[in-house]
Amino acid sequence: MTVMLALMLAVHAITWDSIPEGLQALLSRIGVSGGSLPAAVRSIEDRNRERLRAGEYDHMIFYLLQSRAFTRTQPIEPARAPAEPTGDAAARIKEFSAALAEPNGNARLRYFAGFPHSEETLRTEYRRAIAFLHGKEREDSAREIAGLYQHRGLSSDAGPGTGLLLEAALARIGRPAERVLIIGPGMDWAPRTGFKETEPRSIQWDEVRRRLPQARVDAADVNPRVVEAVGARQLNIATARLGKRYDLIIATNVLLYLDQTELLLAWSNIRNMLAPGGWFLHNDSRFEVRVFGQAAGMPVRHVVPVKIDAVRRPPLVDRAVLHRAE
Ligand SMILES: C[S@@+](CC[C@H](N)C(=O)[O-])C[C@H]1O[C@@H](n2cnc3c(N)ncnc32)[C@H](O)[C@@H]1O
Repeated sequence: MTVMLALMLAVHAITWDSIPEGLQALLSRIGVSGGSLPAAVRSIEDRNRERLRAGEYDHMIFYLLQSRAFTRTQPIEPARAPAEPTGDAAARIKEFSAALAEPNGNARLRYFAGFPHSEETLRTEYRRAIAFLHGKEREDSAREIAGLYQHRGLSSDAGPGTGLLLEAALARIGRPAERVLIIGPGMDWAPRTGFKETEPRSIQWDEVRRRLPQARVDAADVNPRVVEAVGARQLNIATARLGKRYDLIIATNVLLYLDQTELLLAWSNIRNMLAPGGWFLHNDSRFEVRVFGQAAGMPVRHVVPVKIDAVRRPPLVDRAVLHRAE
């Protein structure tokens, strides 16, 4: 995708009048009205700035623990890292902070060098990022873990099974889509496990191009780093949409970061970008997605279980959820 194309796509901020009536009714029930919508949008955007910052520091800490680019110490698995940065973790913080003074040709180091990175800052961010991982391990219900995601920093790394979800969805849709939008394509940057020192790329962008070679594909993401790398348009799907209609909109491993208000607003923006008969693919299994889909005029048409990792015990299974615009 060229940057030119991305620049030509207009971004429209959400307005009360643009929200389908059925979704307006649901928003009113949770206290959002025409009068309070601008304040709700401001609060989402303020919160989002902090979540973006926290997400970039999460990646920095995962990189600092796993990369071999700046140290000879063994990688540390983030989920098993000590809560307090001691031992090898402390040594890695020291070496990483020094490496950022001379990042040379390493794209990740150069990018991280643009953030405040004193050893003290890194220790503070380390404690925050590792506390989240440990907290997640302690939660044992899917619902509680889902709750954590609605407040955590925004990760940009590919979720599990991106390509498999798309494959399952395309088998149901049964015809190639021409105009495709990826919301939150992400890019492989510094995942919390299994980091490899490869050239950063967007797995989802590549998968969509490979499976739909004829399609005209646009992308939109909230993270400026992803926007620049993929040539996407910058927007928060809860507060804005693009001025174009699509046959297929894909948002996998994105909606889990949205709370209920954000999800309702996102449903409005997505509905307003779907062409008649257009499909919307996601993998959020909250029961609300059915109610919101019905209210938005894009009911759920298929829920397809997808085995993401058959080797794991129990196997890791996700669901491709497909809505269709009426
Ligand atoms: C975990 S990655 C998933 C990447 C890819 N979709 C996949 O399935 O592998 C989440 C992506 O969604 C983006 N994102 C998160 N919240 C968003 C929002 N409210 N609006 C637009 N993009 C968002 C993040 O910046 C990131 O690029």
